[in-house]
Amino acid sequence: MSIRAEADHTWEAIHRHLIERQGLDLTRYKETYLKRRLLVRVRALRLPGFEAYARYLRRHPEELGPLQKALSIKVTSFFRNRSCFAFLEERVVPDLLRRSETRRHRIAVWSAGCATGEEPYSLAALFASALDRGAAFPACNGRSRVMVRITGTDLDETALVKARGAVFVARALLDSAPAEAAGQFDIRPDGTATPSARLRGMVRFERESLLDPIGREELDLIVCRNVLIYFSLEHQERILSRFAAALSGGGYLVLGRVERLFGEARALFDVVSARDRVYRRLPSDAAAGATAGGGPGREEARACA
Ligand SMILES: C[S@@+](CC[C@H](N)C(=O)[O-])C[C@H]1O[C@@H](n2cnc3c(N)ncnc32)[C@H](O)[C@@H]1O
Repeated sequence: MSIRAEADHTWEAIHRHLIERQGLDLTRYKETYLKRRLLVRVRALRLPGFEAYARYLRRHPEELGPLQKALSIKVTSFFRNRSCFAFLEERVVPDLLRRSETRRHRIAVWSAGCATGEEPYSLAALFASALDRGAAFPACNGRSRVMVRITGTDLDETALVKARGAVFVARALLDSAPAEAAGQFDIRPDGTATPSARLRGMVRFERESLLDPIGREELDLIVCRNVLIYFSLEHQERILSRFAAALSGGGYLVLGRVERLFGEARALFDVVSARDRVYRRLPSDAAAGATAGGGPGREEARACA
C-alpha cells in the first residue's frame, strides 16, 4: 500500500488522538494539507508509514509537540483585517488611554497566538500613534506617563524567534498599515522594515500554550484572532472563560472574523462591535447580574448566532 493510500486508514485515529490529547479540531484544515504535513513527521522519524506513525504517537506523548508544530498554520500579516484595526484605532485604543488614568497609567495587552509578531507590533503602532496625537487624550496628561505593555504569546518557538528578530518585508507593512502607524517603523534601503525602538520596548514575547491555565490577570485588552478556530468547541469554551477571568472589568476581547464568543463567558461581555468581534468585559458585579438575569443582550445574541 502506498504511503498516501495508507493515510486514509489511519488519519482518523490520529485525529481522534489529537482531539483527546490537545483539543485540536482539524476539520477546518484541508485534508490534503494535513496529510502533507503529517508526512513531514513520518519522514523526519524515518517511519515506514502513517500506521507506524499512529503507533509511535501513542507510545511517545512528547511527539504531540512537534506534530502540532508541523500542523499549525502561521499565516499572519500587519493590520490583518483593516476594518477591525480601524475599529481598535477609533474606539478601543482611545478608550483604554483614557481609562489608564485610573489604572496607574498602565495598559496591559495580550496578543494570544501572535505567530511571527505582526499582530502585536501593529497594536503597538496604534498605541504609539495615538499617544503621538496626545492632545486628543487630555486625560492622559502627556505620553510619557502611559506605559503600554504588549505580550505576544505563541506555541511555536520558531515563530517567536522571528517575532523577536523583528525584521519584516517593508512592502508587506506599507501595503496594509495606515500611514501614521507605518511611520512607527524604520524602513531600510534593503527593503526590510523593523519596529522602532519605542515599539520594541512595548512588546515582549513568551512561549505559551493556550491550553494551559492563564497566569495573567487585570488585562485591558486580549486579542486572540484566527487561533480558536483550530480548537474543539469544548476547548474554545474553556479558553474563552479563562480570557474572561484574565480581563479587568471594562477590558476588551477581540476575536477573529469567523470566531465567536459563546458558552459561559458570553454573559460576561457586552458586544461592542458584532462585525469586528469586539467584546467588552462587564464589571464582576454587573456580570453576576447579567448571568442571574438570563443571558446576553440582543446585539450579542446576533453576534453569536
Ligand atoms: C493563523 S495564526 C494567527 C496569527 C495572528 N493572531 C493573526 O490573526 O494574524 C495561528 C497561530 O496560533 C498558534 N497556536 C496554535 N495552537 C496554539 C496553542 N495551543 N497555544 C498558543 N498558540 C497556538 C500557531 O502557532 C499560530 O502561530
